[in-house]
Amino acid sequence: EAELYTLYKGVYLPSHLHPPQSLKYYEDFTFRPDDVIIVTYPKSGTTWMQEIVPLVMSGGDPASVETLPNWDRVPWLEEHRACVLNLEERPSPRMFSTHFHYNMMPPGFFKVKPKVIYVMRNPKDVFTSSFHYYGITSFLVKPGSQSEFLHKFLDGKVMFGSWFDHVKSWLNAEDKQHIMYICYEEMIMDLKDSVARIAQFLEKPLDAEVVEKIADRCLFKNMKQNNMSNYSMVPCEFIDQTKSEFLRKGIAGDWKNQLSEAEVEHFDAVYKDKMKDVKYKFVWD
Ligand code: PPS
Repeated sequence: EAELYTLYKGVYLPSHLHPPQSLKYYEDFTFRPDDVIIVTYPKSGTTWMQEIVPLVMSGGDPASVETLPNWDRVPWLEEHRACVLNLEERPSPRMFSTHFHYNMMPPGFFKVKPKVIYVMRNPKDVFTSSFHYYGITSFLVKPGSQSEFLHKFLDGKVMFGSWFDHVKSWLNAEDKQHIMYICYEEMIMDLKDSVARIAQFLEKPLDAEVVEKIADRCLFKNMKQNNMSNYSMVPCEFIDQTKSEFLRKGIAGDWKNQLSEAEVEHFDAVYKDKMKDVKYKFVWD
């Protein structure tokens, strides 16, 4: 366990993906005002947004989503790849991802205030998605039994720490004009409308038919076919998709198939306590 995870700013990070030099690189990173950062707690819709945002930015041109793997297209700033991708030299507008909590962001972020799209997902579905994912990856601590993993998840003893702390940190961000908040469930309910809102936020006016084309491309069943986005290029020894696919179900509410009645009750009690001061109206509440 000690080897698989690194404790960084109070949260566990998978050591294999985040060596010290990568974290140092991020700490010193120079942002630009026209950067677009996709921010998520893991398993909340990162890959989905890594498909939508490049398509919006390119006015619907699929070249980048057809030729670049999602981790090069919208690279994570905290990942080992970041320091070798020459991100500082990429032409504007650049697109990045991060799983960092608000208070973990580097000084340059607060100075420049680049655009942020913060995606949230019902934590019960985040739990469900995570439980399957932890079971198929070699660089994460094995989840253990469902009840063991539930305790770890609710205590934040998982990669990138507590879902509650993550969401609260970003909802309490100081300067919200540069942040768009959106839920995975809203994207499930109306993807076209979500794409249109994202385009508006990114100041990329798109014709209705382009919005429609983008939304269609980003449907779960279509994205699953895209080898640049379905993690099929990652060797089986890291992510064993023969057991459970990375693009697993892509629905809202799968927790109902996963959690027992007692687990739901426990989850709800913890949720109620941890979220008591949160004013944000979530779709799932
Ligand atoms: S990660 O590891 O943090 O990058 O994972 P992330 O991409 O945030 O989350 C993976 C879950 O998102 C689902 N997904 C989608 N759902 C609906 N539509 C589309 N297009 C889509 N793309 C990815 C993916 O299936 C994972 O959820 P589960 O519930 O496990 O299916």
